[in-house]
Amino acid sequence: MNFLSLIEAKREGRTLTPEQIWHFVHEFTAGKIPDYQMAAMLMAIYFRGLSTAETTALTLAMRDSGDVLKFPGDPRPLVDKHSTGGIGDKVSLPLAPLLACLGFRVPMISGRGLGITGGTLDKLDSIPGFKTLLPAGKIVEQIQKVGCVICGQTDRMVPADKKLYALRDVSGTVPSIPLITASILSKKLAESLDALVLDVKFGCAAFMQTKADARKLAKAMVALGNECGVNTRAMLTDMNTPLGRAAGNWLEVKESVACLEPISCSRRCESAHSFPKSNQRGLTFAATEINDLHELVLDCAAHLLVQTGKARSLAVAHKQAENCLASGAPRKKWDEMLVAQGADLNAFNKKLTLDHAAPVVLEIKADCSGYVSKCDARLVGEVIRDLGGGRLTKKSGINYDVGIDPLAKPGEAVRAGDVLARVHAADSASAKAAIAQLKTAFEISAKRPAQTPLVVEIIQ
Ligand code: URA
Repeated sequence: MNFLSLIEAKREGRTLTPEQIWHFVHEFTAGKIPDYQMAAMLMAIYFRGLSTAETTALTLAMRDSGDVLKFPGDPRPLVDKHSTGGIGDKVSLPLAPLLACLGFRVPMISGRGLGITGGTLDKLDSIPGFKTLLPAGKIVEQIQKVGCVICGQTDRMVPADKKLYALRDVSGTVPSIPLITASILSKKLAESLDALVLDVKFGCAAFMQTKADARKLAKAMVALGNECGVNTRAMLTDMNTPLGRAAGNWLEVKESVACLEPISCSRRCESAHSFPKSNQRGLTFAATEINDLHELVLDCAAHLLVQTGKARSLAVAHKQAENCLASGAPRKKWDEMLVAQGADLNAFNKKLTLDHAAPVVLEIKADCSGYVSKCDARLVGEVIRDLGGGRLTKKSGINYDVGIDPLAKPGEAVRAGDVLARVHAADSASAKAAIAQLKTAFEISAKRPAQTPLVVEIIQ
């Protein structure tokens, strides 16, 4: 194969054949194409785009560059969720055990955070003893036995994506819809899924800032997922406000466990409609307070139930997921998953009882009465990154215990002096700097703002 002629063909906007694409992906993975030539190809793709057939060929070639998980025959469908990432997005944590209890197998292969966006593996690394790096054999064994696993990609899975993504990162070619689509779906297809639900976020803290761009990406991924034999749906969700009330690795694990605690549906519904009274704003998580997280977890589960024919309508599926969560079984399944992945359950439970694991906690208070009209997710993410809870480069270490909770959310009534959030920090200097930064994230208005929906569109 003359790779230069393929670069020139793409530069001129010509279509490549699946064979040509398959060949160059495998040659590049084997180290037979230099980075400078592949960077030129990526830039040509960035400007010229790829047809649906080309994107499918690229995705399948990337999937087949390494091991694909193989599962024994089983009536339980294989399902997963992928989120394009945001602040406070811990949905995967409660969702995996919930789905396992609903009769699915859930091979959730997740990633780490970079910049302001958190990563599921980083959150799990805050659990004493929990292992996120598992060999493929162990992943399959745990799925068959426990029903769910949340872990990182093995070295032998989708190596083409690892190499291509690293090159895109340094060649200005990350924001290309066919390249993003192929990158995300090649990894999901390597899980051998029956159904996939995508949470494509838009807003100030999202990868795609506008709804229109998020819709374009979602449509491309849904079309490709279905084309490749995986029943795929996408939800477009708002990422202008952090999801839930906690942001920061350990704090998000704590909130996820609270979300799994069995509480009756009516208690949760009551709390969804009654914002905390200003002088009663609690500083600990009542499971009843966490509603947007709870809703999104149930929505993901409900879609997967419908996609796999386990429920005939979304309303029925939602109720089924809600009852399952209220039964307490997913909370027990969570512990089972933790033990299967090496966690020290005693140390974990002890850590859960702590009000905070970071040494310094400072409160940020409302300076006037009114309604919270803004809690800027991007600023919250930047504060956490600067506290040491996020990575500046792929190799930087992170502090799992820093973060912000419990966040006051848009629509809530507050009085002057009420706590809007607490900053959990490693020392008082960084806590004070965070408070100063965080003040600009909140806005309080005299009128209650209109509530905006979290899920704005479903693409299928
Ligand atoms: N996440 C991925 O895994 N790949 C991309 O290209 C973008 C986001």
